[in-house]
Amino acid sequence: MVERTLAIIKPDAVKKQVIGDVIQRYEAAGLHPIAMKMMHLSQSTAEGFYAVHRERPFFHELTAFMSSGPSVVLVLEGKNAIQANRDLMGATDPQKAVAGTIRSIHGASIEANAVHGSDSPDTASFEIGYFFPGMDL
Ligand code: CMP
Repeated sequence: MVERTLAIIKPDAVKKQVIGDVIQRYEAAGLHPIAMKMMHLSQSTAEGFYAVHRERPFFHELTAFMSSGPSVVLVLEGKNAIQANRDLMGATDPQKAVAGTIRSIHGASIEANAVHGSDSPDTASFEIGYFFPGMDL
């Protein structure tokens, strides 16, 4: 089934200058960017995006990190895009990510883990609408 998922190339990966490498990996995996923008998230924008995690002990660090520099936010489209992108990213903790996944290659820590990807169809539709509101994609 052709699906859409929301991906973020996080501030650590942008700083490392691997935007092109990450996008190349999406494309090679059949995940086509259909919308994309570079933006420096404010802390409140990051808090709204990660609202589901607001009770977690790492919420403040997470949102401070996500607003520490520019990110690239993309909508990816492809066959089973949500799971395909999760497989491509690897585990949240780069130390546990399978070799060859984006987080194993570019992630440094559970916080600086290079990329985000939606984890379910409901999350994908919330996350796409959050960053691309009212867009006829
Ligand atoms: P992401 O896929 O963007 O979704 C939520 C993020 O919270 C996750 O990637 C991690 O970067 C971050 N995260 C998850 N667990 C922890 C943790 N224990 N400490 C700090 N950050 C975390």
